[in-house]
Amino acid sequence: LTWKTSRRRLLAGASAATTLLALPAWTRASAPSDTSMRPIPSTGQLIPVIGLGSWITFNVGQDPALLEQCTKVVSAFLESGGGMIDSSPMYGSSQNTIGHALARLEEANAVFSADKVWTSSGQDGPDQIAATQSAWSVAQFDLLQVHNLVGWEAHLETLFAMKAEGQLGYVGITTSHGRRHGLFEKVMQRYPLDFVQLTYNVLDRHVEDRLLPLARDRGIGVIVNRPYRRGQLLNYFEGKPMPGWAQDIGAENWAQILLKFVISHPAVTVAIPATRNVAHVRENKQAALGPLPDSDTRRRMAKDLASL
Ligand SMILES: NC(=O)c1ccc[n+]([C@@H]2O[C@H](COP(=O)([O-])OP(=O)(O)OC[C@H]3O[C@@H](n4cnc5c(N)ncnc54)[C@H](OP(=O)(O)O)[C@@H]3O)[C@@H](O)[C@H]2O)c1
Repeated sequence: LTWKTSRRRLLAGASAATTLLALPAWTRASAPSDTSMRPIPSTGQLIPVIGLGSWITFNVGQDPALLEQCTKVVSAFLESGGGMIDSSPMYGSSQNTIGHALARLEEANAVFSADKVWTSSGQDGPDQIAATQSAWSVAQFDLLQVHNLVGWEAHLETLFAMKAEGQLGYVGITTSHGRRHGLFEKVMQRYPLDFVQLTYNVLDRHVEDRLLPLARDRGIGVIVNRPYRRGQLLNYFEGKPMPGWAQDIGAENWAQILLKFVISHPAVTVAIPATRNVAHVRENKQAALGPLPDSDTRRRMAKDLASL
């Protein structure tokens, strides 16, 4: 066992010496036919294919009602199998919101903690990472990513050194829609990355040309951000009649159609839709259950949805 057994979540208010160690439910054996789990290419460790983003949705400051709502979302996420929660120092108070939720939830160790380093100064990276660990109340992260390649050379050096010293499980880089893809590809070619995070959805498909095939070739896990294009796709499709093929792929709503498209790409390891709504987090988790579209159906989905 790799990252999970070495990970210790600090008990709220306890000293670093008092640590909690437990195996998450989802590291137990999973049937090969279980469509809700994917192997992380660099280790084979299984991870739920639906994770949880936190940009905007978890930036709720100190508002007690909104903090409570976000805690319920994290709770529902954990009850539905847990997995990757993704944040960044760029996301306002989102890291603190996650820490607030995890301190109150018993199943908190079913989380695969993913955060980022986001500062142009390589020297400031370690202090930022320490502050991020403190916001989450974790002694170490499962995954740290260089956010949008900002200061990437220095930060990758820091992250690979942390990994080598057993202070970090996995190393990654991120981008969002169309940004710095040329450089992104070069970094993918050159470094032994565990994960890349990029934008992919039924209307934003250019990563299918180069980045997704390269990730497969290089054995790099893929995390998909903006699967709903920040919610715009759902606003656009909601209310339109569901296509006939929705039933064949077991989709009960538009959200599941869009997620099933994303996670049926063979290079994709995890998709991280963000939500502040408990019903939505359950709906998103359920998208991984049941059938997924094959390549012919995927082509049809892309064609039909682009013309709607
Ligand atoms: N460069 C980077 O590193 C980068 C860039 C972009 C994003 N990210 C990461 O990726 C995550 C996801 O991207 P995103 O937040 O930009 O956009 P997104 O996940 O595509 O869309 C989020 C929006 O979708 C809505 N939603 C979620 N599930 C729904 C459902 N089942 N039914 C109806 N509406 C639903 C949410 O509203 P409700 O709250 O009402 O459900 C929210 O407004 C981010 O939160 C962040 O963690 C990283």
